[in-house]
Amino acid sequence: MNIDKILAELTLEEKASLCSGSDFWHTKTVERLDIPAVMVSDGPHGLRKNIDLAENPNQAIEAVCFPTACATACSFDRKLLETLGKALGNECKHEELAVLLGPGCNIKRSPLCGRNFEYFSEDPFLAGQMASSLVKGVQSMGVGTSLKHFAANNQETRRFSVSAEIDERALREIYLAGFETVIKDAKPWTVMCSYNRINGVHSSQNKWLLTDVLRDEWGFEGLVMSDWGAVDDRVEGVRAGLDLEMPSSHGKNDKRIVEAVESGELSMAELDKCVRRVLELVDKAAEGADPDVEWDKDKDHRLARKLAAECIVLLKNEGSILPLDKKRKTAFIGLFAKEPRFQGGGSSHINTKNIDAAVDCVKEYAEVTYAQGYITDEDKTDEALLAEAVETAKAAEVAVIFAGLPDSFESEGYDRRHMRMPECQLKLIDEIIKVNKNVVVVLHNGSPVEIPFADKVSGIVEAYLCGEGSGGAVCDVLYGKVNPSGKLAETFPKKLSDNPSYLNFPGEGDIVKYQEGLFVGYRYYDMKEMEPLYPFGYGLSYTTFEYSDLRLSHTEINDDKTLKVEVTVTNTGKVEGKETVQLYVSDRESSVIRPVKELKGFEKVSLKPGESKKVVFILDSRAFAYYEPSIEDWFVEYGAYDILIGASSRDIRLSDTVYVNTDKRLPVKFDLNSNLGDISQFPEGRAVLEDLMRKTQVTGGFDDDDEEMRRLSEAMTAELPLRAMVSFSDIPVLTREYMQELIDKINEMMEK
Ligand code: BGC
Repeated sequence: MNIDKILAELTLEEKASLCSGSDFWHTKTVERLDIPAVMVSDGPHGLRKNIDLAENPNQAIEAVCFPTACATACSFDRKLLETLGKALGNECKHEELAVLLGPGCNIKRSPLCGRNFEYFSEDPFLAGQMASSLVKGVQSMGVGTSLKHFAANNQETRRFSVSAEIDERALREIYLAGFETVIKDAKPWTVMCSYNRINGVHSSQNKWLLTDVLRDEWGFEGLVMSDWGAVDDRVEGVRAGLDLEMPSSHGKNDKRIVEAVESGELSMAELDKCVRRVLELVDKAAEGADPDVEWDKDKDHRLARKLAAECIVLLKNEGSILPLDKKRKTAFIGLFAKEPRFQGGGSSHINTKNIDAAVDCVKEYAEVTYAQGYITDEDKTDEALLAEAVETAKAAEVAVIFAGLPDSFESEGYDRRHMRMPECQLKLIDEIIKVNKNVVVVLHNGSPVEIPFADKVSGIVEAYLCGEGSGGAVCDVLYGKVNPSGKLAETFPKKLSDNPSYLNFPGEGDIVKYQEGLFVGYRYYDMKEMEPLYPFGYGLSYTTFEYSDLRLSHTEINDDKTLKVEVTVTNTGKVEGKETVQLYVSDRESSVIRPVKELKGFEKVSLKPGESKKVVFILDSRAFAYYEPSIEDWFVEYGAYDILIGASSRDIRLSDTVYVNTDKRLPVKFDLNSNLGDISQFPEGRAVLEDLMRKTQVTGGFDDDDEEMRRLSEAMTAELPLRAMVSFSDIPVLTREYMQELIDKINEMMEK
């Protein structure tokens, strides 16, 4: 496609028309110039391709539902996400879809967000890595992705209008960092802006977000589309860098664009930028499409089960109750054993009939008894079902209870109000504990729940919403065919009120203040020295791992160099297993507020019993940096940083220290209100102050011989602003003017 030529030939009306969808899922055609439409589809863990738009807009083709993001994140496995991406890309290719609408890369600020199941983590490093791998996988098949929801879409309550009020560091270090990684590393074809406003401005018309940060800083070259219905002022959106409005606005906003260009409110050049990006997308899509590729749904179903098993997290395994002994009489209790909850509600909902139920898949391993126990979607106990379940559990040696959150409890479109599981399920678990000592609970949920029975049962398996293969995958883990290797991608607090967003979620009216700032997830629990129920990065295995030989390539580095970190992991147990080695960086002493530690690397290794492998991490300056608003950039402070190697965020096995050197300094400018302590931190300031003290005989502690006295008086005077020295002193030379001269001198010296 000769885009320049087409741009020259398109009329204003045609250009405007290309900037919005023709219906729910297609861009527009311009037949006169042979510009075809392309089709997009949800996303993110399967295809929800609409087939019969006119008759039945909600009817999607039958497809494969893979594990959702809350589960895949627990794999901590980039290859797994890439494999998943390739399978999805292949399916899209077959279905002639240009773009898969996903992945979602928003941060899990609160466990209550209804859409947490579509997001990866509370940690931006992990979220960015997982989303990048998925994007790479899909796009390697010649199909695009849409990284969403850009940005700060961390709740469903008032999602179309709420303004997320976030300070700049939290925005950059927590809420944008994952997106930044994906844009730079994986180059998604498109980005989908979020519904909400950020600090007052709708994402769909936020020039700072869509152009200054996304394109100018991060180098994004693709297309930005709106979330479905996110457009407020379309003309403002064009100017801000929103290329495509989705879905169709029935010509209304196209007309507004035409009028704005005609009146001079919008320039043709601004409009052309958007049109060019739409044409580029259409062009790329034509290259990738190939309806002849095969889509083997059975093969993808098997893949869905295999991937699911890799995501499951073993939270508790007292007395090695798991893996289950096939010879022990076992009961499966709970409706979810028969009808697993494996996906979430809303736009990501996949139409699948091929669902693995644990009660069926278990036959591959053993005969079990089954009782339903509860009715889903209800808090109320069904006494007959409860009684039957208790009897079934009593007659068995081991009772495996399948529980979690019903569909109605969490979905796109609304947030949860509490973190509790349904009352009927809690009662069922309580009653079964009374009659059977060997209880294992399997959880199906899209986001953390309170687990009041954590101390009372022997085993807990977190299966999240693990896709259509989840029933089989759970059995594979329960019976030890797969050794569980998932680690939590989010903290499970003991109770909701422990969560850092508790006081400010979901906000007041259309304002939600992110008052906890940087302290999201483990960053908060670490800082407050709070014991969570299960920490970030935690997950058990049927084997054990030992960590040894931590080696840093340098004890001291310059911030423009990389640091190589090596560590050896050994499988010290009796079965093969996988371990995720986590690397956290901790700034020992910082002039700004920083989390205790932050995840900056992870690697997953597979080890046979007795086997050892070396794991290598390469850290660049970003691993040590924080975002410094005064320079609008990332900044590394010189000093000591601890490199912590752990099996979870609360199980640090080895550590060492590196000293980071840097010549870079933040710009400093002093004035009459600057205090002596701040000024004397710098050699230039200290020299001028000491000279002043000598001349005026005011000691200020700087020339005291007694070390202790010197320290004390320095501490006292450190807080004094220069202007106070003028008023406190009767020395005639100490005038405001004289002080200003000294300040000018220091500022001048510091600039050099
Ligand atoms: C959701 C998006 C989705 C779109 C299209 C919106 O309501 O927020 O994630 O891709 O609908 O279904």
